[in-house]
Amino acid sequence: MQKFIVEGGRKLRGEITLQGSKNSSLPIMAAAILCGEECTLRNCPALTDVYAASRILNCVGCRCMFSGNTAVIDSTSLSGTEIPEELMHEMRSSIIFMGAMLGRTGECTVSVPGGCELGPRPIDMHLAAMKKMGVDIRDSGGQIVCRTRKGRAKGTKLSLSFPSVGATENIILCAVTAEGETVINNAAREPEICDLCGFLRACGADIKGDGGSRIVINGREQLHGCDYAIMPDRIAGATYLSMTAAAGGEIILTEACVPEMEPFLNVLEQTGCSIYSRGSRIYLRSGSRLRAVSDRIRTMPHPGFPTDAQAVLMAALAAADGTSVFEENIFDCRYRHTEALVKMGADIQVLGKVAIVRGVQRLHGANVEATDLRGGAAMICAALAAEGTSEITRIEHINRGYEKIEDAVTALGGSIRRA
Ligand code: EPU
Repeated sequence: MQKFIVEGGRKLRGEITLQGSKNSSLPIMAAAILCGEECTLRNCPALTDVYAASRILNCVGCRCMFSGNTAVIDSTSLSGTEIPEELMHEMRSSIIFMGAMLGRTGECTVSVPGGCELGPRPIDMHLAAMKKMGVDIRDSGGQIVCRTRKGRAKGTKLSLSFPSVGATENIILCAVTAEGETVINNAAREPEICDLCGFLRACGADIKGDGGSRIVINGREQLHGCDYAIMPDRIAGATYLSMTAAAGGEIILTEACVPEMEPFLNVLEQTGCSIYSRGSRIYLRSGSRLRAVSDRIRTMPHPGFPTDAQAVLMAALAAADGTSVFEENIFDCRYRHTEALVKMGADIQVLGKVAIVRGVQRLHGANVEATDLRGGAAMICAALAAEGTSEITRIEHINRGYEKIEDAVTALGGSIRRA
């Protein structure tokens, strides 16, 4: 079991280039199944979740080769339609392979994706949408067996009860080769949905309205391969900015997606950090001490404040002047990192979906365990700002979403090592 050892108290200073987006790469890798040819994906981050997606592709007969941050996926030789339970359990986003497999072959066998680190994450919306698109779904000994009636799903009008990112992606993946028109009302508007649609359009798909809450897709009989660059990771960006805000210093993020990061940047700016952007560069200089954020920080679907940035910002605000209040509206159980932050000296009270963060003078190092991906990143932020040494275990959670995080922190002058 590896761990990170972090020596706190050093200011961060320097420039880093943002990695490609994890939450775009995973659905785009699934989408590569649909084109039935070779696709080249650039800016694909080297992450354990990306490798888990490539194992799924391999197991259904696709080839997936990595060279640096370029992935070449050839789905010409797709031969299977069943994703074994152990691969489904490796990561939650394995469920988006359902829409892609249905779109390509009209059938698939999957199971409920693994884990429950953020609370219950049902797939009821995914299944209800597939059924409405003419897919027969039955449970066979824990496996979800899906089959379209005529080998091809049927376009239809769908209204989501909540703008679920995964359900929107699954519907898009199934609809791009379905018969006729599919309309998704109350669709998720996250930038990663637009990135997926950008990839699919490059493969010949007919999709309109992504980025808004009504997406219209006209099914095509055949898609083709393409060469596509994945968008930068806005949550990794939020993490490195939060680290610098917490530890003090100055950072330039290059190749960042500035408009997509605005909901986060607008809140971070209220802490007193100076933030400027030009083109795809973001510059941040921290003040001498951070200020608490006076408005309640409510996580909401995009373009609201992103739930994935809640933990890292909380780590920074733990040692700000004043009290900040968070309200987590997306997941039921996304405050598991607070226990570790409290162990490091933070004063945080969790009351249901609200967390009250009373800024303390200084955090101190502690031995803590990463609870989930973003919670683990928050512990690194807090450890860099703290006095003394911290050991963070269970870092396999962090490896799922941050490419060479220790190299990035070291390049900024922070002290972190993997042991
Ligand atoms: N939900 C249902 N039923 C469904 C689907 C979702 O009740 O059928 C609920 C979930 O339980 C949750 C809420 O709806 O409470 C939002 O879930 P959503 O489907 O939008 O999230 P997701 O697709 O499972 C993606 C990201 C998450 C990110 C969320 C919200 C990927 C691979 N994952 O998850 O990213 O937090 O959208 O923006 O894209 C992360 O990167 O750390 C991460 C957790």
